[in-house]
Amino acid sequence: MKRIGVLTSGGDNPGLNPCIRAVVRMGIHLGMDTMGIHRGYAGLIDGEIEEMSARSVGGIIGRGGTILGTARCPEFYSSKGRREALRSLNRFKIEGLVVIGGNGSLTGALELWRTGFPTIGIPSTIDNDVNGTDMSIGVDTALNTILGAIDKIKDTATSHNRAFLIETMGRESGYLALMSGIGGGAETVLIPEEDVTFDEISRKIEDAYIRGKSHCIIIVAEGWKPGTKVLVQQLGEKQEELGFSVRVTKLGHVQRGGSPSAFDRLLATRLGAAAVRELIAGKGGHVVGWGEGDIVLTPLEEAIAFEKQIDRGLYKLAQIMEK
Ligand code: F6P
Repeated sequence: MKRIGVLTSGGDNPGLNPCIRAVVRMGIHLGMDTMGIHRGYAGLIDGEIEEMSARSVGGIIGRGGTILGTARCPEFYSSKGRREALRSLNRFKIEGLVVIGGNGSLTGALELWRTGFPTIGIPSTIDNDVNGTDMSIGVDTALNTILGAIDKIKDTATSHNRAFLIETMGRESGYLALMSGIGGGAETVLIPEEDVTFDEISRKIEDAYIRGKSHCIIIVAEGWKPGTKVLVQQLGEKQEELGFSVRVTKLGHVQRGGSPSAFDRLLATRLGAAAVRELIAGKGGHVVGWGEGDIVLTPLEEAIAFEKQIDRGLYKLAQIMEK
């Protein structure tokens, strides 16, 4: 193998730039030409590809976002799209590909691998729902962003004796809500994986008030049903009984930006470097993850077979800490 490519795909997160940097610099170290593919699979299909140098990734280790850009690309999931992608890879003489992304992007990597093209994946999504790694790239920074927001909201919630609904990202995954709920000392955590009735929620808020708490923080995952909007409306109607008045903050895409944390910089560098080594060593078809303090390889098929589930023990822990 003489020339490899790297792309970032799907939702961005803080940690992509240090990972691109690691892929490029390890590639150069091992004697490869390293090509950067812009806008994920969309840029691969359109041939938006350029050679990267050690200098072209200078100064990006502490920057959020991705210098390569990213996209969600439904076209790639058709055989026509994949054929065009393979044509581009051929045209640019790329012999191996590193895909940095979440479940959707890694499914694309598997499809490419199945055509016989050496492809390796690196899990990166703030949802932390890829199998084969304890932590995906970007999760730690997103969690720290959420904790910073919770701490600030607590200040104002306490001043005004208010209950706050704080919505985190996670369309299908309660990971961010659960972990930030534990780390932020929330009174309640609402996640898609657990059913909770409106009566249970309002009872918890009332209890917090009766027990003399000065605030009540409720973390709601984006994917929790029936959703933050409905809940805030229902709670608004019961405000007198609750004790606290209710406010809502949706954190949104602020969770996907910012300078990567120390943990994410180190994780991204380790996984990026290992992915290049393994790709060259013929270990295409795998996801390079982190488990038990070391690099772990998981077949792409297994990694994307289902979305990694949250730890129910941690949900129980969150409930115990709510007191
Ligand atoms: O998968 C990552 C994620 O940030 C989810 O938590 C969120 O539901 C989704 O992406 C938002 O996607 P978009 O930026 O396309 O609106």
